[in-house]
Amino acid sequence: MTKKELTDCLKPQNKEYFVHESAYVDQPCEIGSGTKIWHFCHIMKNAKIGRNCIFGQNVNVASGVVIGNNVKVQNNVSIYTGVIIEDDVFLGPSCVLTNVTNPRSQIVRHDLYENTVFRRGATVGANSTIVCGIEIGRYSFIAAGAVVTKDVPDYALVMGVPAQQVGWISRHGIPLPKPDAEGIMICPEGGYRYKEVEPGVLRCLDLDEDACLPPEKAIGKASYTDIKGK
Ligand SMILES: CC(C)(COP(=O)(O)OP(=O)(O)OC[C@H]1O[C@@H](n2cnc3c(N)ncnc32)[C@H](O)[C@@H]1OP(=O)(O)O)[C@@H](O)C(=O)NCCC(=O)NCCS
Repeated sequence: MTKKELTDCLKPQNKEYFVHESAYVDQPCEIGSGTKIWHFCHIMKNAKIGRNCIFGQNVNVASGVVIGNNVKVQNNVSIYTGVIIEDDVFLGPSCVLTNVTNPRSQIVRHDLYENTVFRRGATVGANSTIVCGIEIGRYSFIAAGAVVTKDVPDYALVMGVPAQQVGWISRHGIPLPKPDAEGIMICPEGGYRYKEVEPGVLRCLDLDEDACLPPEKAIGKASYTDIKGK
């Protein structure tokens, strides 16, 4: 029996989640219901993946990685040991995560992997690089191509190399306008109000960070350019 045939046999037959026939899922691992694992993915042993996630083509999830519910991972992403991903995170195509700050081929650091935590609802733009040992805040947004070298606050929009915060962004992924006289910023798409409750700390005044978006607010109805008035 070839390795591929053996792995195919071992593929979990639990139909509560989907594994494309070209993907490998090593055992033991946990995968929640409704999750879809597409072409050429490799999920390694002891990975823990939540419900309703999507793994696009050629995604690697290494041993011991923990991933929450409703996480979307686009094509060509490797999620290394030490990475923790909370619910509702979006990892854009070909973004790069890391787990050793100072790798050297001659030095074994398998027991020294550094943690990188992606908090709930964060978005990581296409082709960005996240240096390890940092925390990517809730609902923060990393622009395409950024190199992130330090913690990102909740709701921060960061871009560039090295990434710098250029503003705040809403749960709907719309950069927030300048605050009014009372310090309130209103998202033109979601309609929610946001305020910097202390310097560098933004909060949504209308919806708790732990709450799901109500269903009617969870479907986009206008294009980004229309909303931004470009
Ligand atoms: C960051 C982002 C959301 C746009 O934000 P925005 O505020 O609407 O940006 P704008 O287009 O108004 O541009 C504002 C400025 O930021 C710059 N900018 C925009 N995106 C940038 C990026 N990724 N990196 C560096 N600079 C960027 C623009 O050049 C512009 O600069 P200028 O004022 O000097 O002309 C978007 O560019 C982005 O990176 N989205 C991620 C897309 C992605 O990865 N999708 C994956 C799913 S397919």
